[in-house]
Amino acid sequence: MMMMMMASSAATTTITSSRISSLSARKSNPIAFFPSRRAAGATNNNNNNSDGRRGQLQVVSEGTGRFIVGGNWKCNGTRESVKALVETLNKNVPNIEKNCDIYCCPTFLHLPYVKENLDERFNVCAQNSWVEADLVDPEHHYDSTTGAFTGEISAEMLEDLEVPFVLLGHSERRTLLGDTDEIVGKKVAHARYHGLSVVVCVGETLEERENGTTFDVIFKQLKAVAKEIDDREHSSWGSSVVIAYEPIWAIGTGKVATPEQVQEVHSKIRNWLAENVSEDVAKATRIQYGGSVNATNCADLAKLSDIDGFLVGGASLNGDDFAAICNASSVHYKAVGR
Ligand code: PGA
Repeated sequence: MMMMMMASSAATTTITSSRISSLSARKSNPIAFFPSRRAAGATNNNNNNSDGRRGQLQVVSEGTGRFIVGGNWKCNGTRESVKALVETLNKNVPNIEKNCDIYCCPTFLHLPYVKENLDERFNVCAQNSWVEADLVDPEHHYDSTTGAFTGEISAEMLEDLEVPFVLLGHSERRTLLGDTDEIVGKKVAHARYHGLSVVVCVGETLEERENGTTFDVIFKQLKAVAKEIDDREHSSWGSSVVIAYEPIWAIGTGKVATPEQVQEVHSKIRNWLAENVSEDVAKATRIQYGGSVNATNCADLAKLSDIDGFLVGGASLNGDDFAAICNASSVHYKAVGR
């Protein structure tokens, strides 16, 4: 479906010769690979109104994208435990509903093994990709992130490995590893340029929630992404950029945001997209909730119209539980009448 959505918006553009070889590689391997707008030959679906105006707030009540569930394995796993998790997930494939998209994020070390051995029902997703903080690239090509950057992984490498998704801006990277809003915006644009679908995480700390700045924080995070990708011919929003709302105080704490809190934030994110990007993007963008989601609480959350899926940490390390969370998709479609 993602490919269909991308293809339907395709129009003409120029493809540089350096891109042609990777384009033909993609053609021969259409499975779970979502070409960048530039690669797909698309023009800018510029998110301003046609006369460049912004700011006509349209309330968009719910998204139209497929339910999407991600498993963030974080810095976990041994060869043995990863093998066992892959086997359990594969065993669950016949029980998993067909109506949702799924991705799993192993560590970089385990990624090739998982890509090779995990059933194609699951996409693989990297947990990060590198971009230089002070990269200034007026041509927006971001073509130079391989090289003397010890310990980093570039989007080019993920593209080469045909890893279709990358998770960016997770709060653990923002708070522990110094990813600023600006860096996350650049990473998103760069990953999109290389044809990756992106899951970009946003969310507030407990202190920010308590002092009433939740939306300032989240809108600033979104703005940094919009600044980098919304007016560039080679990148796009819509189904290729998923937003994961993860209140930091709910991650790994067992403290789940209430359905009302989640619905409020998700609908405001959607309104922000409608106002600052476009109504089409607001509808097409999947907004996941993440923060202590498990097989027991997922159904109540999935009933909400603006929750288009989940990003799951701890519970995704249990293959049976993760499969059950994926199946909350059916609860969602039933509740929203789709
Ligand atoms: P959690 O993690 O489900 O363990 O709270 C979610 C995440 O950090 O993505």
